[in-house]
Amino acid sequence: MHSFEFYNPTRLIFGESKIETLNKYIVQTHKVLVVYGGGSIKRNGIYEKVSKALSGNNWVEFSGIEPNPKLETLMKAVELARNEQVDFILAVGGGSVIDGVKFIASAIHFKEEDPWQIVLSGGQLIKEVVPFGTILTLPATGSEMNAGSVITNGKAEEKRVFSNPKCFPKFSILDPIVIASLPKKQIANGIVDAMVHILEQYLTASEQATPIQDGYAETLLRTLIEFGPRVYNDPFDEASAQHFMLAATYALNGVVGAGVKQDWATHMIGHELTAMFGIDHARTLAIILPGVWEVMFETKQKKLAQYGRLVWNLSGDDKEVAEKAIEKTELFFHSLNVGTRLDDYTEKCYKVWDIPERIKTRGWKLGELALIDHLKVEEILKLRI
Ligand code: NZQ
Ligand code: ZN
Repeated sequence: MHSFEFYNPTRLIFGESKIETLNKYIVQTHKVLVVYGGGSIKRNGIYEKVSKALSGNNWVEFSGIEPNPKLETLMKAVELARNEQVDFILAVGGGSVIDGVKFIASAIHFKEEDPWQIVLSGGQLIKEVVPFGTILTLPATGSEMNAGSVITNGKAEEKRVFSNPKCFPKFSILDPIVIASLPKKQIANGIVDAMVHILEQYLTASEQATPIQDGYAETLLRTLIEFGPRVYNDPFDEASAQHFMLAATYALNGVVGAGVKQDWATHMIGHELTAMFGIDHARTLAIILPGVWEVMFETKQKKLAQYGRLVWNLSGDDKEVAEKAIEKTELFFHSLNVGTRLDDYTEKCYKVWDIPERIKTRGWKLGELALIDHLKVEEILKLRI
């Protein structure tokens, strides 16, 4: 196991009717900025619950954070927050709203430079963050219990990640009732994204035994594979909704990845596909993941075989089980109506060849062994068109 430091200060408030307890976690004298997306919270009653819970506070709102939140939109919220001199921000939404709030909270006091530098610096330039909490409405990204954020710069067609320990939410409320109003497509996205988060931290070239992290990852994977489809088929299945929601949060709150090598190549290439084609985040992962496994088969074979045996109950020799595990994963994505080829989503596949060039310009070497350079990225893309 590698040495590590684990830090996660987010208070997790989980369970039925927990949204109604919101005012317990917000200081009454604070002026609050409530941030949300395109309006789903008005249709499913969450907005009303939030308004009621905040009745003792002075608060203002900003709506219209789009999926894959854009710098241009977020800067409008920053301006509002500065003008209104807010003390606290409440994100009500999925990963896009929560990531957007991490950026807004970091940019309010960042006046001296171009705010895109916050993102380009990977979060290192952040000095002061306005405290914020979240009400999660879509289990998927884990953003509700981590310090990362992914922001899109529309003009530059770039989607980049930043993180900073100051960007952990103060609290996150997880009430599984939110799942009932999710479109099937978003439930499928949530299952796939959470699964790939675990796999990025678990399915690596392993040379050291890490039974605690592996066992935890395998349990989360089995949970998503068993209960994810149940929620997909019946969003009102309360028990399955609970298991799915908790698994998605635990998939990326830092525990699975503490002390182990991590891959993240699928995410980094996937972000390029979203920036270029606007494909949903989770779907880009479903396209790329099998390609990363195939191109890096030799280094990942041992762990793929472990995954095949312990998560999919496969049997046979290592190579055979590893190959079948890739196939099983792709079939699982298909069972949720998630296409795993680029041409399932766009007719402009030819544009994809700009991606290896971008990777080369940035000097990126991806994957747990930093072996995935622009040439390997090209190989991966060739397999996935
Ligand atoms: O905008 P609204 O009206 O809220 O509608 C949203 C949006 O259209 C809708 N939705 C959310 N909750 C709902 C609901 N509709 C009905 N009922 C509900 N309860 O779902 C749509 C998608 O929402 P979005 O927030 O974009 O989805 P998701 O949670 O998948 O977030 C994706 C973003 O998170 C980033 C992705 O790159 C992408 O930008 N990620 C963030 C990570 C992190 N911070 O740790 C890690 C991830 O790997 C990921 O990269
Ligand atoms: Zn993801």
